[in-house]
Amino acid sequence: MNDIQTPQSKTKTALSRWLGLALALFLAAGCSSEARDITAFYSNNCAACHGINLQGGTAPSLLTNVWTQGADDVSIARAISEGNPTKGMPAWKEALTAAEIRAMVVLLREKIAKAQSETNAVAKPIDGEVVTSAEHKFRFKTVTENLDHPWSIAFLPDGRMLVTELPGRLRIVEQGKLLTNAVSGTPKVRAQGQGGLMDVAVHPDYATNGWVYLSYAHGATVDGKEVSMTAIVRGRIKDNQWTDEQTVFRAAQDSYLSTGFHYGCRLVFDDRGHLFFSIGDRGIKEHAQDLTLPNGKIHRVSDDGRIPSDNPFVGYSNAMSSIWTYGNRNPQGLVRHPQTGELWETEHGPRGGDELNLILRGRNYGWPVITFGMDYNGTPITALTAKEGMEQPLIHWTPSIAVCGMDFYFGNEFPRWEGNLFVTALAQQELRRVLLDGQRVVKQEVLFKNIGRVRDVCTGPDGLIYLALNRPNRIIRLEPVK
Ligand code: HEC
Repeated sequence: MNDIQTPQSKTKTALSRWLGLALALFLAAGCSSEARDITAFYSNNCAACHGINLQGGTAPSLLTNVWTQGADDVSIARAISEGNPTKGMPAWKEALTAAEIRAMVVLLREKIAKAQSETNAVAKPIDGEVVTSAEHKFRFKTVTENLDHPWSIAFLPDGRMLVTELPGRLRIVEQGKLLTNAVSGTPKVRAQGQGGLMDVAVHPDYATNGWVYLSYAHGATVDGKEVSMTAIVRGRIKDNQWTDEQTVFRAAQDSYLSTGFHYGCRLVFDDRGHLFFSIGDRGIKEHAQDLTLPNGKIHRVSDDGRIPSDNPFVGYSNAMSSIWTYGNRNPQGLVRHPQTGELWETEHGPRGGDELNLILRGRNYGWPVITFGMDYNGTPITALTAKEGMEQPLIHWTPSIAVCGMDFYFGNEFPRWEGNLFVTALAQQELRRVLLDGQRVVKQEVLFKNIGRVRDVCTGPDGLIYLALNRPNRIIRLEPVK
């Protein structure tokens, strides 16, 4: 029984060849700490054995869902680092840093997800189509299309829908009809990159006070440079006009930045008169750990903008007193659980490492010291995914789905979805239903995909689920089909 030569010796030759190449590459890299693109490293060092798309070759396919060394990230990282030389898998710990091995795991996850998405059929409904999902059948129905980059949806108690458009308009949909004119007199926004008019939220006591809140990129010119920062106002809508405007949050002007990235900014109220809002890191990751700066944080203010005296950093000389949490990369989902009152957040990771977090007073969510993602150009950010004193996400999506707005469902039209968390995704263009057991994610279902970038989700007072989509721009809703 020694007919093992063929595959074994083949692997061995490949092994010694590749070990030699890996060593040469390692030496070529020398002591320089220059970041390497892990995608290229995979193509040059792994693909010959595992195939460029992980489909296998002289080495096993990595798409089978069978992991002899363990299926979790840590086991896969160990399998790469230590290898299994007697079986023909080289050890890569000399050739790759721990951070590069972490990035390699992200890359493998991306390649696996891509292969799976080609075999798994997920609904791609067109207007009016009926989709059958695990718990409910629903119709995918367009509400209105004549919008420019709809960003957020909120409902007034009378059933009218407010929609923000990123370029700077606030629109009203009344009984399913989009009013022709935008609300006039809303603040001038700096529409640049990912910034513009962002969230709209209705005060919990709207019936008595009429306040509507808007978050937007507020522009300024500092030293001749065009800069901006997320700002918040409230006002009232009377006869399609924005009136009584008051500033709720505006950062110091020396914190304004010229980048067009990561503004946040979701708004959410608790039941004690506080307003929470998120500001992304604006593409400067170190800022997320700097408590003197507004970006990369979740803030809490009173509904009129004053700082609550029990905010975590009140009285600190080197911190903004509005900060509630920090180390948040780009939070574009923020929602209060209607039963527990907990604050839940989603934030975009870089490439990999999109997060679902439970937001707790004063905590550090770690960006960019810890992350499950790597940089967009394929270079690693860090090997660290956890650290003492920093929060872990409830789950992370690696590869990234570009997680955006979310909402808990407690409407009347989809009883078997009660208490589920609905999560939107831009890049993956999907709506996910997340099943929870308390704070534990039990299961996820992608309800549909590839229908445009899904930006926001909001349960209407009618119990239907409304979505804001970009490219193509439209509001759609899910209607139950019995
Ligand atoms: C010389 C061929 C060869 C090269 C080059 C190679 N591998 Fe492997 N790899 C193998 C073989 C053979 C196995 C199966 C080993 C075993 O049975 O335990 C393996 C196993 C693995 C596993 C574990 C799979 C499991 O089931 O747990 C991972 C992960 C992996 N390789 C990743 C990589 C990565 C990443 C690279 C490039 C940095 C790489 N490999 C380069 C041959 C190779």
